[in-house]
Amino acid sequence: MDKVTFKDILDPVSPDTFFKEYWGKKHLIIRRNKFKDLFNFEDLNNYLNQYPDIKGLQILNYDNKDTRWCLDKVKKKQLNHGVHQPMLSKDQVYKLWLQGKTFVIPLMEYQKKSLVDICFAIEQYFGTGQANVYASPKANSKSFPAHADSTENFLFHTEGKTKWTIYKEFKGEKPKTVLEQFILEPGDLLYIPTHQYHEVNTIGARILISVHFKNKPNQSLEKFAITSDKQNNRNKWYDWRPYRIVKKPVIKERLMNKSNWSKPYFNKKI
Ligand SMILES: [Fe+2]
Repeated sequence: MDKVTFKDILDPVSPDTFFKEYWGKKHLIIRRNKFKDLFNFEDLNNYLNQYPDIKGLQILNYDNKDTRWCLDKVKKKQLNHGVHQPMLSKDQVYKLWLQGKTFVIPLMEYQKKSLVDICFAIEQYFGTGQANVYASPKANSKSFPAHADSTENFLFHTEGKTKWTIYKEFKGEKPKTVLEQFILEPGDLLYIPTHQYHEVNTIGARILISVHFKNKPNQSLEKFAITSDKQNNRNKWYDWRPYRIVKKPVIKERLMNKSNWSKPYFNKKI
């Protein structure tokens, strides 16, 4: 795909409509068939097989007591939930996956060019962001309870079905009024404004990518700042391949070359 723009990301909603009607105000569901290949189970398989040489893996409810296990903190010998969590072997991590635990892998934007491209596109309008992968192996895998984030969230669905609950309330209130419940599928996008309460229920194996950003300081509709890619100091994506893959133009083959061919041969009575 050529350069990804914010317009492509929001398609078919225009950026203009997005900022005027949804930004900071209400969630937006875009059901469509786009960006399904951002990070799928095949990618997850390759990534997790590099364990323990990966960064930032988190396992939700790893001890069935609602504790989140954090690989980074274990590696840095930092306290998590007031304790030093044990290092887990690859086999233990795999067994937790088989048991149905949800895995969260933060800072995955450089795993795929398309993810970095999406970050560049959204960072024209927002501050620096990151992409976190949320993966669950089966139904009823425990995810986060209803909560509100301090970032603008763009949730790209790539595998399985995910049930969402969006609450009317924003941070500072208690999440009690369900505004909308819906199920999203691969290719769908959900936008959740900063501080709005939301919750995920896993109804089967699924992957979604939360690409989230802070707002630029003092950003407003009246005085809207747009950053160009050149002004963005995010590390760019380099193409390290010594040989570029040149796409050859596809020549459509004419199967029936005779211009007066009326019917396929096998239909002819011999
Ligand atoms: Fe969230």
